[in-house]
Amino acid sequence: MQSYAPAPARHDGEELSPLTRLDDYTTDPFAGLFDSSTAGEVIECDSLLDTPGARRLFSLLAAGLPKSLYMYQLPLSQAAKPATGALGNDLVAFSSYSYLGLIGHPRLERAVGEAVRRYGTSTGGARLLTGTLELHLELEEELARFLGCDAASAFPSGYDANVAAISALFGPQDVAVVDHFAHQSIWAGVRMAGCEVQRFRHSDVDDLERRLWEIREAGARRILICIDSVFSMDGDVAPLEEIIALKRRYRAFLLVDEAHSLGALGATGRGICEDQNLDPREIDLLTGSLSKAVPSAGGFIAGSLPLKIYIQHGSAPYIFSGAMSPANAAAALEALRIIQDEPQHVARLHENTRRLHDGLAQLGLASGNPKVPLVALVLGDEWRTYRWARRLLNQGVFVSAITYPAVSPRLARLRLCATAAHQPEHFDRLFSGLAECQAEEG
Ligand SMILES: Cc1ncc(COP(=O)(O)O)c(C=O)c1O
Repeated sequence: MQSYAPAPARHDGEELSPLTRLDDYTTDPFAGLFDSSTAGEVIECDSLLDTPGARRLFSLLAAGLPKSLYMYQLPLSQAAKPATGALGNDLVAFSSYSYLGLIGHPRLERAVGEAVRRYGTSTGGARLLTGTLELHLELEEELARFLGCDAASAFPSGYDANVAAISALFGPQDVAVVDHFAHQSIWAGVRMAGCEVQRFRHSDVDDLERRLWEIREAGARRILICIDSVFSMDGDVAPLEEIIALKRRYRAFLLVDEAHSLGALGATGRGICEDQNLDPREIDLLTGSLSKAVPSAGGFIAGSLPLKIYIQHGSAPYIFSGAMSPANAAAALEALRIIQDEPQHVARLHENTRRLHDGLAQLGLASGNPKVPLVALVLGDEWRTYRWARRLLNQGVFVSAITYPAVSPRLARLRLCATAAHQPEHFDRLFSGLAECQAEEG
C-alpha cells in the first residue's frame, strides 16, 4: 500500500510513473506555491485575499498538501464514466452524478454533432433577443411532457433556474421558509429576492408547520416553501406529500428542486412525484438540473404556462444571460428521449442502487434511503475523510470528500453515487477499498 509521503522532487524530462504523477498532483497541484511559503505568507495583510474564507482555505491547503491529500479538480483524461482515468491512472469513479450512465451514449453524440453543424457553437445572445433556437422550444416541450407539467423554461444551469424562479416572483414583503439542507442556489435565490428567510429543521414537517403558522399569524404577504426532493449531501428524500398538505393549509407556494431526483427516482425516472404517486401540478415551481442524470449542462423551471411566460420576460438570469448552447440543448433533448425509449437505464440504476446499499450494509457502513443512488458515508473529522478518499484513490477508486462549508464542520463525509453504467467489478473494487480503509483506521 502506498504511503502518504510527499511526492518526490520532479526531474524535468523524466517519465513519471502513474502513481508518482498522482502523488505529484495530490501533493502539489499549485506549481510549488506552498513549498516555500506558509499560508500566512501567501496572503499578505490587507491584500485582496485577506479574508477569513481565503485564510481558512490556504491554511487547510498548507496542512493537507504535505500529506498528499489534495484531490479536488482531479484532471480526468477520459469521459466521466465509471471506468475513467487521470494522470495516467485507471480509475473507477463513484463520484459522478450521471445517474443513468448516459455519458458517451452514441445517440447523444450524434445529436450534438448535428446541432453544432446546424446551429454552431453558440447562439450569440440571450434567449429573449437572438438566442432562441427551435431546439430550445423542442427541449422545453419535451421537458414539460416528461415531467407532467404544462410548460417549462430551459436555463444554462440549474443554479440559474433556482435563482431565477425565486427572485422573479418574491420580494421584501414575502417570507421564504427553506429546508436547512436545501441547495446553495436556493439560498442564493432567496438572498437575491430580498425576502425574509426562515430555515426549518431538515425535513421536519412539525417545525415547518410551526413556522408557517407563525408567519401567517404575523400577516406575511406571500410564503414560499423551498425544498430539494433528494438532498445532495445526505441522499435522503423529502416528505413531499406532507409538505404539499401544509402548503395547501397555509396557502403557501412550493418550490421543489429535482436536481438529484430527475432520472433517479420513480419507475420511469420522472422524479419524486412519480415515486410518491403525487401530481406534479401540486408543485408551483419544479426546478432542476440538466447536468446529472440528463448529461448535459443546463437547468429548468417547470410549472404553468403563465409562469413560463412571466419567467421568460421577468427573471434576470433569463433576460440578462446568454442562452443554453446548441450542443447542450441537443444533448438534454436527446437524453430525455433516450430515457423514454430505453427503460433499461432506469432499471439498471435501480439494480445498482440496491447493490451499493447492500454492499455498504455488509461492511457495516450506514447507507441511508435505499431508493437513492447517492450515499453519504459520514466519517466526522475532515482529515479522516480526506485520508479515506486518498487511500481509495491509491487503489484506483475515485470518490468525493465532502467537508465544510458544504456540510457542518464535524460531519465530513465521503459521497458515493451509483449509476446505471457501473458493473459488478466496479462495486467489488469500491467495497474492497472501503474494507481496507476500515482495517487501517477503524
Ligand atoms: C440540489 C441541486 N440543485 C441545483 C444544482 C445546480 O445545478 P447545476 O449544476 O445545473 O447548476 C445542484 C448541482 O450541483 C444541486 O445539487
